[in-house]
Amino acid sequence: MRTQVVIVGAGPAGLLLSHLLGLEGIDSVLVERQTAEHVQARIRAGMLEAGTVELLRSVGLGDRLDAEGMEHRGIHLQWPGERHHLDFVDLVGRSVTIYGQTEITKDLMVAREKAGRPAYYSASDVSLHDVTDSPYVTFVDADGAAQRVDADVVVGCDGFHGPSRLSIPDAQVRERAYPFAWLGVLADVAPSADELIYAWHPDGFAMHSMRSPRVSRFYLQVAPDEDIAEWSDDRIWTALSTRLAFSGWTLETGTITEKSVLPMRSFVSTPMRHGNLYLAGDAAHIVPPTGAKGLNLAVADVSLLARALTASFRGDDSLASAYSETALRRVWRCTHFSWWMTSMLHRHGDDFDAQLQLSQLRRTVSSVSAATELADNYSGIPL
Ligand code: FAD
Ligand code: DHB
Repeated sequence: MRTQVVIVGAGPAGLLLSHLLGLEGIDSVLVERQTAEHVQARIRAGMLEAGTVELLRSVGLGDRLDAEGMEHRGIHLQWPGERHHLDFVDLVGRSVTIYGQTEITKDLMVAREKAGRPAYYSASDVSLHDVTDSPYVTFVDADGAAQRVDADVVVGCDGFHGPSRLSIPDAQVRERAYPFAWLGVLADVAPSADELIYAWHPDGFAMHSMRSPRVSRFYLQVAPDEDIAEWSDDRIWTALSTRLAFSGWTLETGTITEKSVLPMRSFVSTPMRHGNLYLAGDAAHIVPPTGAKGLNLAVADVSLLARALTASFRGDDSLASAYSETALRRVWRCTHFSWWMTSMLHRHGDDFDAQLQLSQLRRTVSSVSAATELADNYSGIPL
């Protein structure tokens, strides 16, 4: 089979890229290791930047997002005894929207089916070949048949564990490990707060997020090698109630429907292009989740890449030549912001570190310039 662009990985980055290229009349084929059901059910991101929402709306993916997404003006920052609201709309004129990655993935899958764009799910032994000259991808399809797709361009949207990144010779990796992880919890209970709460606490960071008026999402800082079996539902609710405590406020509890431990790392692999192979999303970079940049960064990459490839297919290579450098500017901004949010909010080090964190938190809520810096980064620097 031959196509213009073969996309490895059908997570949000791959699905959205295929959608954006399709709108420009550019053909693509998606090759995904997992089943469609598995990809769609992965519970991950929940917060969308203003620019991500605008982009999704502008390409026909806004109907359910507008009906079911929850627009938030800002976030709450808290530490023992204090809770402060930062209003991003007042500070920088942009809001954020809570809408699960599962829902975006569903919307993109429906759009893909409607447009009849080809995708191979449950592909195994996915390999990239000859990426500098005449690229092609080989794999074994769901029926066990060997497949080969030739293309002008290969885009690796296959996340941190996929093969695409490894096809770039002499790639430079810069990374940071963190001495903690998150325990993520999904619960059937109405959110106890109007907007997200990020809480510093001596026991460790906690966060209250949500997915809908009936479903709440929580995160707790835990050890990187935490055994999830040690976290009964009772222990989770006690830890959340302690770390999120605030005078006159009660955390409502409910049935926990999912819990998992998520490792945290910062990771950037450069360059993001080698010959006719381009990388986008988690295939090139991972950020720790604090500040919710991962999915938004994947959207920013593919928005830039779709424009670059469209221009390139029409004879203008300038955007494609600049892709890696241009994308990496935003990647490093978001890498810095998520590292900064993570460092400010998680317990690590000694009491000296704790006092620095509390000083930074106080500064962030009391200085307009410090609050604006957080709001500008969190709500997303325009695409
Ligand atoms: P992925 O979603 O990882 O998709 C890659 C795809 O490639 C997968 O479907 C995978 O199966 C496929 N693949 C892998 N190997 C192969 C192979 N060999 N062949 C073919 N296909 C392959 N980000 C935010 O912006 N906001 C948030 O609020 C947020 N919260 C998060 C909370 C959690 C708990 C987690 C874990 C992440 C969160 N993130 C958040 C990050 C966000 O989920 C990721 O950055 C996002 O999924 C990246 O999308 P992607 O398409 O680049 O990669
Ligand atoms: C969510 C995750 C985040 O990492 C974050 O900063 C905000 C929200 C979420 O999953 O809802």
